[in-house]
Amino acid sequence: MRRPTTITPPKGNLGVLTVGMGAVATTFMAGVDLIRNNAAQPVGSTTQLGTIRLGKRTEGRTPLIKDFVPLDPLKNLVFGGWDLFPDTAYEAAAHAAVLSSEDLAKAKKFLSGIRPMKAAFDRNYVKRLDGPNVKKAKNKYDLALEIKNDIAEFRKKSKASRCVVIWCGSTEIFLTPEEVHSTAKKFEEGMKKNHPAIAPSMLYAWAAITSGVPFANGAPNLTLDIPAMQELAAKHDAPICGKDFKTGQTLLKTILAPGLKARMIGLNGWFSTNILGNRDGEVLEDPESFKTKEESKLGALEYILQPKLYPNLYGNVCHKVRINYYPPRGDNKEGWDNIDIFGWLGYPMQIKVDFLCRDSILAAPLALDLVLFLDLAQRAGLHGIQEWLSFFFKSPMCAPELYPEHDLFIQSMKMKNTLRWMMGEELITHLGSEYYD
Ligand SMILES: NC(=O)c1ccc[n+]([C@@H]2O[C@H](COP(=O)([O-])OP(=O)(O)OC[C@H]3O[C@@H](n4cnc5c(N)ncnc54)[C@H](O)[C@@H]3O)[C@@H](O)[C@H]2O)c1
Repeated sequence: MRRPTTITPPKGNLGVLTVGMGAVATTFMAGVDLIRNNAAQPVGSTTQLGTIRLGKRTEGRTPLIKDFVPLDPLKNLVFGGWDLFPDTAYEAAAHAAVLSSEDLAKAKKFLSGIRPMKAAFDRNYVKRLDGPNVKKAKNKYDLALEIKNDIAEFRKKSKASRCVVIWCGSTEIFLTPEEVHSTAKKFEEGMKKNHPAIAPSMLYAWAAITSGVPFANGAPNLTLDIPAMQELAAKHDAPICGKDFKTGQTLLKTILAPGLKARMIGLNGWFSTNILGNRDGEVLEDPESFKTKEESKLGALEYILQPKLYPNLYGNVCHKVRINYYPPRGDNKEGWDNIDIFGWLGYPMQIKVDFLCRDSILAAPLALDLVLFLDLAQRAGLHGIQEWLSFFFKSPMCAPELYPEHDLFIQSMKMKNTLRWMMGEELITHLGSEYYD
């Protein structure tokens, strides 16, 4: 990929369209409103709080990322979205019960003005949900054209000069790539024939990409991981990234596992279990949706630990992940990890993690960062898979001949070096030999 020579400055409004207006999306929207009104801090957001070192350690140049790369300021973001429930973002946020009533009250006016457009929804792909705010059309192709029209109309109405679409919708049933996904042409024919391997999330992605609009996938759905989408993203200059926001248990896993491996500490097993009681948890009760999530959660350890390179340390790891829907907890998930490790001469030890987290509080800043970075990527002339955004995902996308990079610290370095590269700054290797000449 060529280094961008110019990055178009952000002018006008940036339209943010969320597919799904549930817990994550409304916590994201409410947060942006509170932050814009100086009523809260953007904690957890790399674009808002992160800094980046430039040049040598002796130069003392460490600007905020948002001052280094031309990101759109939060004041320019305008929001819309789709959902099968007709509730406004305020009603949906109240239902999700993530934010306190004080915070909700502060964001009420803003959230009440965001009403979801009709969803392209099909119960065959999310079995536990049913709602009235859905599109009706002859076939999947016509549904996708309606979504394209929604994007164009939203853009006009909100006077957005650019848009980004981000999937904050439910986890769909487990699908694998098939012939119909192999080319853009076959995919289009498949939509016209209502092919069952084409899920609603793919219709949104198709509509966004063919409108030249970047698309991020916050769920573990197959959506973008098919050649047809990648072909279209190149053709329409749309940056894409996914999948599945890296929050909670997997975030901790990708912090701990690289540390154990760096010190050559062995692993016998990693048992992860969760209780959560939000709508996401309810959807994941369906075994077919759970399978999609499970696949996404299981991959990280295998890639980080490289058992083929270290058979004595990681050749026989027992890795299990469980999710239990437990309504009393709402969005406040509890995740337990039991980690069986071994050290010098094979002596066993254990680590126990008990993470009392808040799912949407962890996911909302990622949605913000992804929207701003995808818009930046597009203005820098980048398109297709944005591997440098792996930092935000449980199951990062990469070129077909590569393996994904899961180690959070390598992901962070990759992201910051990409920003330096975009801006023509020297890349930082952390060698540091020049300080000792
Ligand atoms: N919160 C986290 O930490 C986290 C982490 C990783 C991934 N995720 C994923 O993010 C997604 C959103 O999570 P959430 O907690 O906000 O869930 P949620 O159930 O509160 O919200 C999802 C919303 O999407 C809507 N929806 C489903 N299918 C749709 C369609 N085809 N079109 C339009 N709307 C549709 C649902 O009606 C619902 O309102 C889930 O897939 C979840 O697995 C969340």
